[in-house]
Amino acid sequence: MQINDKSGVQNYLADSKRYESMTYKRAGKSGVLLPAMSIGLWHNFGFIDNLQKGRNILRTAFDLGITHFDLANNYGPPYGSAEENFGTIYKNDFKSYRDELFIATKAGYDMWPGPYGNNGSRKYLISSLDQSLKRMGLDYVDIFYHHRPDYETPLEETMGALADIVRQGKALYVGISNYQPAETQKAAKILKALNVPFILHQARYSMFERWIEDSLLNTLEETGAGCIAFSPLAQGMLTDKYINGIPEGSRASKDLSYLDKDVVSNHIGKIQKLNAIAKNRGQKLSQMAIAWILRQQQVASVLVGASSPNQLKENAKALDNLIFTSEELSAIEKIIS
Ligand SMILES: NC(=O)c1ccc[n+]([C@@H]2O[C@H](COP(=O)([O-])OP(=O)(O)OC[C@H]3O[C@@H](n4cnc5c(N)ncnc54)[C@H](OP(=O)(O)O)[C@@H]3O)[C@@H](O)[C@H]2O)c1
Repeated sequence: MQINDKSGVQNYLADSKRYESMTYKRAGKSGVLLPAMSIGLWHNFGFIDNLQKGRNILRTAFDLGITHFDLANNYGPPYGSAEENFGTIYKNDFKSYRDELFIATKAGYDMWPGPYGNNGSRKYLISSLDQSLKRMGLDYVDIFYHHRPDYETPLEETMGALADIVRQGKALYVGISNYQPAETQKAAKILKALNVPFILHQARYSMFERWIEDSLLNTLEETGAGCIAFSPLAQGMLTDKYINGIPEGSRASKDLSYLDKDVVSNHIGKIQKLNAIAKNRGQKLSQMAIAWILRQQQVASVLVGASSPNQLKENAKALDNLIFTSEELSAIEKIIS
C-alpha cells in the first residue's frame, strides 16, 4: 500500500494483515523466528537495476510477512550498490519498521582492491561491516556472516572478529556461509567458547544442488544453528520460466548472468518432469521446489530472489501446501538423483 505525505513523496504503509499468512520458523535453537521464505538482494537491486522495481519487490515482501532481507557487501553490480539502494529504500519506506525487520549482510568475497578487501581477516571483516552500515544507513545489522571459508586465515581470527562485531553492537547475531561440515563444527566451537550467538549457516540448496544433505544438516543439528537455503529455485531453473526456451530479460539471458544457458538446456528434461509432478499437486514448479526444501526440519528459511513482486507472491503460495506423499517424494527422487 502507498500513501502520499505532504511533500508529495510516496511513503509506504505496510499491509496490516502481513503476519496472518506467513509461517515463522526458529533459527536453530536460538530465539529468532524467521519467515519460512526470505528475500535476497543479490540480483535486481544494483545501480544497473531500476530502483523503483526493487522498492516494489521489498514492499511486496514485507506485505507478505517476509521480515528477513539478505544482503552482502558485494551485491550489485557494482559492488556495494545493492546496500546503497537498500539504504535509500529503507530510509523512505522501512525506517519506522526497523524493529520488525531482520537484516543480514556479509563479507568474505572480493570487495575492494589490495590485501584488505577480501577473505577472512579481522581487518577486512570489521572495516567491511562499517562500510556496509554506512551504505545502508543502519546502526547495526541483525546478522553478519562470514561469506565463505578462508583457509589462509586462522579460524580463530575470523571468528574472533565476528565476536568483537557482536560486542561492539554492530550485529546482534553471527552466521557463516558456504562452510563445509568440519569447518562449521570448528567455527561453532570457537564461537561457543566466545559466547557469541551463532545461529545460521547459509548454504546453497535446491533439488539440483543437494550437498548439504550429506552431513551439513546433521552438523547443524548438533551445533544448534539453523540452515537458511539460498538459490532454492536454482536461479530460476526450478520454475516454469525456461520450459519453452530462454526468455528475454531472464537471468540466463543476461550477459552478467551467473546462470549458464547450457546449464539450463542440460536440465530441461528434468524441469519438465518435475513440472508435471507439481501440476498434479496443484502447484507451480517454483512452489513445489520451495516446499521440498522446507521438508528439512533444520531449514529455518528458504532464501529466494525475485525480479518482480508477482514472482514473490507466487512463491509465497508454496506455504499453502508443504505436505508430500511418499509417492511424490520418490517420483521426485527418481528425477533428481
Ligand atoms: N551466501 C551465498 O554465497 C549466496 C550465494 C547466492 C545467493 N545468496 C542469497 O540467496 C538469494 C537468492 O538467490 P537466487 O537469486 O540465486 O535465488 P533463486 O530463488 O534460486 O533464483 C531467483 C531467480 O529465479 C527467478 N524466479 C523466482 N521466482 C520465480 C517465479 N515464480 N517464476 C519464474 N521465475 C522466478 C528470477 O529470475 P529472473 O531474474 O530470470 O526473473 C529470480 O531472480 C540471493 O539474493 C542472496 O541473498 C547467497
